[in-house]
This record gives sequence, structure tokens and C-alpha cells, in this order.
Amino acid sequence: MQNRLLIIGCGDVGLRVARQAQGAGYHEIIGVVRSAQRAEVLRAHGISAEEMDLHDAQAVQALPTEGAEVVYLAPPAALHGNQDQGMRHFLHRCQTQTPAKVVYISTSGVYGDCQGATVTEQSPVNPATARARLRLDAEQQVQAFGRTYAVPTVILRVAGIYGPGRLPLERIREGMVVVCPEQAPLSNRIHADDLASICLAALQRGLAQAIYNVADGQASTMTDYFYAVADIAGVPRPPCVPLAEAAAHLSPMMMSFINESRVLDCRALFSQLQVQLRYPQLSDGIRASLEVPSAENN
Ligand SMILES: NC(=O)c1ccc[n+]([C@@H]2O[C@H](COP(=O)([O-])OP(=O)(O)OC[C@H]3O[C@@H](n4cnc5c(N)ncnc54)[C@H](OP(=O)(O)O)[C@@H]3O)[C@@H](O)[C@H]2O)c1
Repeated sequence: MQNRLLIIGCGDVGLRVARQAQGAGYHEIIGVVRSAQRAEVLRAHGISAEEMDLHDAQAVQALPTEGAEVVYLAPPAALHGNQDQGMRHFLHRCQTQTPAKVVYISTSGVYGDCQGATVTEQSPVNPATARARLRLDAEQQVQAFGRTYAVPTVILRVAGIYGPGRLPLERIREGMVVVCPEQAPLSNRIHADDLASICLAALQRGLAQAIYNVADGQASTMTDYFYAVADIAGVPRPPCVPLAEAAAHLSPMMMSFINESRVLDCRALFSQLQVQLRYPQLSDGIRASLEVPSAENN
């Protein structure tokens, strides 16, 4: 392989993608970030960094997209209603400097609340938040671009990401409450390192214009997750409240997660991308996350 890998939004997951890609035969790995501080982190890991704001249309026109394999991880900003303007600028650049393949990291939030049902990639989307509507706009932009310019694109609808430095330990220590187990909504998770492997597998084996649900295949509740983190870290479990009282204790962002319940069907991920997860068991992933010094990926 002699390709350029372009990682748009090279934060926590992006750097994991870059580090896994080092030694995989790419002749160049470039991470795009907004801040000088993050660019320095990338360079310290031997990764080329491009500093720009994707909302700056002119800056984006300098991106070396021609022939590149792209993993797009930058979240949309809510600057322009329901449109991901950063994605628009990126795809405009790609019209003349055509990439070899684009993998877009979306979220499973595009399905909205499914009342605990299992969702496949064919299930209808029903985004309930502004964040999810922006994601859907980005997905649709990527798919339209792929069809029009005959560029293979892959969309990953990703569940909650956990990993080193992203466990809710601080929140548990600060006394955050959870919804009592019997009323807690179903949710799904993926370890950040497994997501990075999946991004690379999607570049290699993702079918053109495909969508894949991404999680470890072990759906459980957010309460189970918080209890598992507390138990493994050896701190007291957070107190629980009935669902009807949760809004009085939790942030609107947390409530937006709690108001949605679904199980992701990930059979296509495992069969087509042939991914072997490093952390198929949440408890192993939590244990490994606690062992890593927090500065490891930043
Ligand atoms: N948290 C979850 O559970 C979850 C679930 C599903 C999907 N996701 C999505 O997965 C993606 C990767 O997550 P992550 O944890 O790796 O995110 P992250 O650490 O916040 O990294 C995002 C990166 O994107 C860059 N970026 C953001 N806006 C930009 C802009 N306008 N122009 C240029 N660069 C920009 C940031 O640069 P700076 O560092 O310089 O600011 C940062 O390096 C995100 O889109 C996230 O929303 C998250």
C-alpha cells in the first residue's frame, strides 16, 4: 500500500487511527486539527499535522485530498442550522481533488429513540436532537458525493465511545446519579482502540456506499456501564433515581442520551469488515482503560 491517509479531526480516536496506521504501509499520514496545541501533540507522535478550521472555506481548499484515503472524525458545529458546513467545504475540495475513499464517523444517535428495539442499518432514521440532525446532514452529504463522483464512501454509526481518559470516574466521584436499573434505557459502547481498528478496516474492506453500526455487540444500560466502572475502579456505585426524576438531576446532554433506548445490530460490522475486537467484553475494556496513564493519547 502506498497511499496517503488523511484524518480529518485527529483528536482522541483520530490519533489512535494514526498510530495503528503507522507501519501499515501508508507513505504519509496527515492529521487535520483546529488548534496549534493539538497539532504539536500529533507531531510529537510523528504524524504530519495541518491546522485549520473546517468552517474556513478557503483554508479547506488547501487540503491534500487527491488520491487520499480519508477518515473523517470532526464533529459538526451547530453554526449553520441543520447543515454541517465543515463537511460541505471538505466535499467541495474533493470535487476537484478526488479522494480514493471516505470513511465518515457518524453516531447511532441518528436512529433516535427506538424504545429498546434492535436497529439494523436498514432501520429508519429519526434524529431527535440538533446534534443528530447535523450528523444526518453530514451522512447525506457524504453519500450524495460518493454517488455523484463515484468515490467509495462508508458511514460508521458509532455507539458511545469509552477508553483511557474517557471513563465517567470524575462524575461518579462527584456524586452523579443514574437511572435505577429496571428503568434504565438500553445503550451500546465501543472501546476507542477498537473504533480506530474499525476505521482502518472500513477503509480496507468497507463496501462502497455502505453504512455500518459500530458497537461491541454487548448492549446494556448506561446504569450497568456506570456500575461496572465504579466496581472495577473500586469506588462506590452512584446512587440511582427513578426515570421520572432524572431530569431534575442530570444535564440536558445526559438526558438526551437517557431519552433514547436501542440495541445496535452489528452483524454487518463483524461479517463484512471482519473486525476482531480487542475488547469484546466491557469489563476488559474498562480495566485496560484504567491501566493507561491519562497522558498517553494527548
Ligand atoms: N463521545 C462519543 O461517545 C461519540 C460517539 C459516537 C461518535 N462520536 C464522534 O466521534 C468523533 C471522534 O471522537 P473523538 O473523541 O476522537 O473527538 P475529539 O477527541 O474531540 O477529536 C475531534 C478532533 O476534531 C478536531 N476538530 C473539531 N472541529 C474542527 C474544525 N471545525 N476544524 C478542524 N478540526 C476540528 C479537533 O481539533 P482540536 O483538538 O484542535 O480542537 C479534534 O482534534 C467525533 O466526531 C465524535 O463526536 C463520539
